[in-house]
Amino acid sequence: METKIIDGKKISEEIKLEIANDTKSFQNKFLVKPGLAVVLVGNDPASSVYVRNKEKSAIDSGMRGKTINLPSTVSEQDLLNIIENLNLSNEIHGILVQLPLPSHISQEKIVEKINPIKDVDGLHPFNSGLLSAGTPRFIPATPAGIRELLIRSDFDTDGKHVAILGRSNIVGRPLANLLSMKSNGGNATVSLCHSRTNNLKDITQMADIIVAAIGIPNFVTQEMVKENAVVIDVGINRVESSLHKRGYRLVGDVEFETVKLKCKAITPVPGGVGPMTIAMLLSNTLQAAKLQCA
Ligand code: GUN
Repeated sequence: METKIIDGKKISEEIKLEIANDTKSFQNKFLVKPGLAVVLVGNDPASSVYVRNKEKSAIDSGMRGKTINLPSTVSEQDLLNIIENLNLSNEIHGILVQLPLPSHISQEKIVEKINPIKDVDGLHPFNSGLLSAGTPRFIPATPAGIRELLIRSDFDTDGKHVAILGRSNIVGRPLANLLSMKSNGGNATVSLCHSRTNNLKDITQMADIIVAAIGIPNFVTQEMVKENAVVIDVGINRVESSLHKRGYRLVGDVEFETVKLKCKAITPVPGGVGPMTIAMLLSNTLQAAKLQCA
């Protein structure tokens, strides 16, 4: 059977349309426009692209989108004050501080400053605690997007073995909680693998679903993958390329061309998980507005 290329772009467009309709009804009923503030510190080119996409998608869905660009030299205290103002703003229902932050700023302190009811990234310990407890409020956008991709592509996780590669607070760890939850789109047996995992290949070879979120180009190769597995590639790595006008091409954490020949389904990069992350961020923003206004 031919391998299915999971079209995250198309699925995310469907979700964004649903969100735009829901946003319109919400606004008509409560006379409030959901607002998302995205804070970017510094000018990392990849982060700048992500932030622009987030603001534009919010506006396209009928929300207020506001980007706050700060120099990489901004002090931790100034950033804390900016977040405090966003916490107090009636126009902003969701706050996202793009990560990573410069090393002189404590990521922990910044994330903990965001009012948990506006934490649409789901990274505040209050929200990550709710997710660990099995009663999530805001689910981090990338894990939520991966679950939604699997659900909408009819890949059942119930009873399946999922190998997640990468234990980050943004993707791997919350995804492990989410997919092992006793709920629709959950009920999986999860192996959360990382750089210290022994015999990684033995684990991935047993997995019905592999999620690669480690940030190493082409890390997952054909011999690591079980025949007919589903492979989700979260990596967005820039690799130098003279063939491309911009000087680089985007490569995932999976060696797409070879793994594609063995698995049942695979997400492409770009056009797989990336667009789903944005759709789920918008979903969290609308949910935040509802929690604050309805
Ligand atoms: N940097 C890369 N992904 C993310 C994300 O999901 N949220 C934030 N805040 N920063 C990121």
